[in-house]
Amino acid sequence: MIKLEGINKTFNRGKANEVKAIQDLNLNIASEDYLVIVGANGSGKSTLLNLIAGSIIPSAGKIELDDHLVTRLPDYKRSRWITRVFQNPLSGTAPDLSILDNFRVAALRTKKKGLSIGTNSAFKAQVQDKISVLGMGLENKLMQPMGTLSGGQRQALTLLMSVMDDCRILLLDEPTAALDPRSANLVMQTANRLIQQFKLTAILITHNLKDAHTYGNRLIYMAEGRILKDIHSENKLNLTQSDLFEWFG
Ligand SMILES: Nc1ncnc2c1ncn2[C@@H]1O[C@H](COP(=O)(O)OP(=O)(O)OP(=O)(O)O)[C@@H](O)[C@H]1O
Ligand SMILES: [Mg+2]
Repeated sequence: MIKLEGINKTFNRGKANEVKAIQDLNLNIASEDYLVIVGANGSGKSTLLNLIAGSIIPSAGKIELDDHLVTRLPDYKRSRWITRVFQNPLSGTAPDLSILDNFRVAALRTKKKGLSIGTNSAFKAQVQDKISVLGMGLENKLMQPMGTLSGGQRQALTLLMSVMDDCRILLLDEPTAALDPRSANLVMQTANRLIQQFKLTAILITHNLKDAHTYGNRLIYMAEGRILKDIHSENKLNLTQSDLFEWFG
């Protein structure tokens, strides 16, 4: 589904502040894999996600999505495959619009899974139905402006809207970093459920080792722009949280 071959990314090449953010990286992610990435600050995790999304173009190497060569394709041309959720719950939605109108905008933008515009009341019922899955009681607050919701509520709704896009790859860069533990948990569980329900290929970057241990079927540890550990399925299940902690030295 996602294939990276011989990827290098150097920022500020030839200058005093040159950074080799990604070095000779090869990665093959199968369809419906849920890959979790951990690593210290500055190890290249976000750069890797940005390269996959197309917001950064590699200095060398080749990227394929679903057997299409996309190495030099800008991010907006990769949106047929990729949807993203960022760390900041404020990005991705319109704060002054109601929950309902945000869903309406989202449904107009792409062909949303399970949403058809139709009459007002029919659309409202569909949105209510989708939102009730979150178990946050937000289905009764459809007219409330997005900007008045808590970070956790917003992040859960953003996640829901993004997975309803008609694309198969979900990129999550520390989606719960700004949330309290309870909201973070809820958002992670929601993400997990939606990834399974929509059979998505997902990549999660997290500094939360408990989440890295709990979620996903594959775990990667990055340092200095390289993949130092790559643990799959049963081997991942056999890891303990303290194994992960030890990787960080
Ligand atoms: N646009 C850029 N220009 C210059 N250097 C950059 C740029 N983006 C990233 N870097 C550098 O590349 C390296 C990798 O950064 P990256 O953001 O990928 O790390 P990260 O693993 O996501 O870290 P964190 O856990 O702190 O989010 C860092 O040294 C960073 O300073
Ligand atoms: Mg980062």
